[in-house]
Amino acid sequence: MKYSRRKFIKTSTLAAGSLLYVPAMRNFAAAAKGNAAPIAVYTWNYGTKVGRIALEVIKKGGDGIDSIEKAINSVESDPTVKSVGLGGLPDASGEVTLDASIMDWNGNAGAVAYLKYIENPISVARLVKERTPHVLLAGEGALKFALSNGFKKTNLLTEESKKAWERWKKNHAKKINNHDTIGMLVLDANNNLSGGVSTSGLSYKLPGRVGDSPIIGAGLFVDNAVGAACSTGMGELAIKTSGSFLVVEKMREGYSPEEACKIAVERTTKYGRNQQICFLAMNSKGKVGAYALIRGFSYMVATQQGIKLFASKHLF
Ligand code: GLY
Repeated sequence: MKYSRRKFIKTSTLAAGSLLYVPAMRNFAAAAKGNAAPIAVYTWNYGTKVGRIALEVIKKGGDGIDSIEKAINSVESDPTVKSVGLGGLPDASGEVTLDASIMDWNGNAGAVAYLKYIENPISVARLVKERTPHVLLAGEGALKFALSNGFKKTNLLTEESKKAWERWKKNHAKKINNHDTIGMLVLDANNNLSGGVSTSGLSYKLPGRVGDSPIIGAGLFVDNAVGAACSTGMGELAIKTSGSFLVVEKMREGYSPEEACKIAVERTTKYGRNQQICFLAMNSKGKVGAYALIRGFSYMVATQQGIKLFASKHLF
C-alpha cells in the first residue's frame, strides 16, 4: 500500500495541534474496523510526536522495524521520561538497567536485558536480531556487544533521577512502581506487523531483576498471520502468564484484540488485584484493542486520520 504524502501532512497538522482523549476505540473508525495500514499503536500518553515519527519513517519507505526503532529511540533519549532509557529511575543500588525487545513479521526477534550505560537499548535489540544467531543478550555480554557495534557509553542516571533515588533511600521506602514501559506495534505499508518494547523496568527494583520486556512471549509477541501484542505494568505478571503470547493466541482463536487482552488480564488475577498489568494488541487487519487490570492505562493510535489518545478498559 502506498502512503499518501498529502494525507500524511494532514495527519501531522492535526497531531501537532490536538491531543484527544476518548473513552473507547469505537469512534476511531479506520483502526477499529481494521485495514488502516500504516498504523502505529503505543502504550501510555507518550505524545503525538512519537506517533508522527513512526508514521514519517514509513512515509519515507521504512518498514515497521525502522519505524518502531526510530519512534522508541525518541522516548529512550528523552531525559524527562523516568521509565525508559536516559533518565530512567534506577534499581535499589542506584544503577539504571534497561530491558528491550523487538520482533518482526517473519517471527525474528532480538532482545537485551539488564543493559547498563546504553541510551538506546531497542537499537541494540535490533542488532541482536539482525547480527547474531541469538534472541537475548544480557548484562555484561549485552554491553560488550553494544560497544563492539559502535554504541557509546552514557551515564543514564540524570541528576533528577539520582535525587529521586536518594529520597527513596532516605525514606527507606519499600515501594517499587513505575509502569510506563513504551511498547509499540506497527502495521506497516506492506501490511506487515512488528513490535518493540523498551523500559528501565520497575524503579528501585532488586539489582539483577529483569522484567517482561525482553522476554519474547511475555512483554512482546508478533505473529504476522494473526496479530501482535505487548504489555506494560508489573512484568512478573506478564512473565508468569506468557501474557503477550496468550493475547496473540486468543486472537488466533477469533477473539478481538480487546477481548484477547481482557482474557490475558483476567489470567493474572490469581496473583492478586493490586499490581497494574496492561496489554495492547493489534490484529493483522489493523484492529486495535487494550485492557488493563486497574483503571489508568492509556494508549495512542496513529494513522493517516490522526493521532489520538484512548483510555483503556479495565477490570477493577
Ligand atoms: N513491564 C516492565 C517491567 O516490569 O519491567
